[in-house]
Amino acid sequence: MKIAPSMLACNFAEMGKEIIKTDKAGADLVHMDIMDGHFVPNISFGPGVVKSLRNMTSLPFDVHLMISNPQKYINEFANAGADIITFHIESTLNPIDTIKKIRLLNKNVGISFRPSTDLTKIFPFLPLIDVILVMTVEPGFGGQKFMTSQLTKIEKLKSAITSNNLKCLIEVDGGINFDTIKLVKNAGADICVAGTSLFKSDNMYDAIKKMKT
Ligand code: DX5
Ligand code: ZN
Repeated sequence: MKIAPSMLACNFAEMGKEIIKTDKAGADLVHMDIMDGHFVPNISFGPGVVKSLRNMTSLPFDVHLMISNPQKYINEFANAGADIITFHIESTLNPIDTIKKIRLLNKNVGISFRPSTDLTKIFPFLPLIDVILVMTVEPGFGGQKFMTSQLTKIEKLKSAITSNNLKCLIEVDGGINFDTIKLVKNAGADICVAGTSLFKSDNMYDAIKKMKT
């Protein structure tokens, strides 16, 4: 299991130090939640902040776009140093164009979806992407309760990926802690995002280690 701490839960006044802390704590990726106050009610930070953090770590930047019209900002996030660019299926009328745009910039492509979105909208894109990001909370805020109702979606995605021999990884985002991570691991997740549980832990190194076991 790979662990991607979500910078949304860090102390924004010390973001540089916080990213170094996640690196030293054994994180596999750094998850960056980008919110525009339109696709989701919250506003977080933009490509300028991502760029300023890029030279603080060599860990891959996993950029989760919770923004309307993601195509418009893909270049900026690619230039800022994103390694994975994930957009929401509900945020664009043309997912294929968005996938192509990310690929042309040699970045890994992710698609995410709200808990209310049906998997039939996702399946056609699985062969074309590197990561499917399953939301286990309503996107917009950290610190929410894990939705067990989404576990069957992880299971169904896993079986579709395995039976079709696809390389797409399953990433799970929202309400991940020491208990819920066991559930998503059993369901087939490859990567877990964790914000509150890691940044509020006394020792992030120990917490990540425990999550990986
Ligand atoms: C929610 C974000 C998550 C969030 C997770 O919209 O996509 O990445 O930071 O935070 P926790 O782990 O606190 O649920
Ligand atoms: Zn996220």
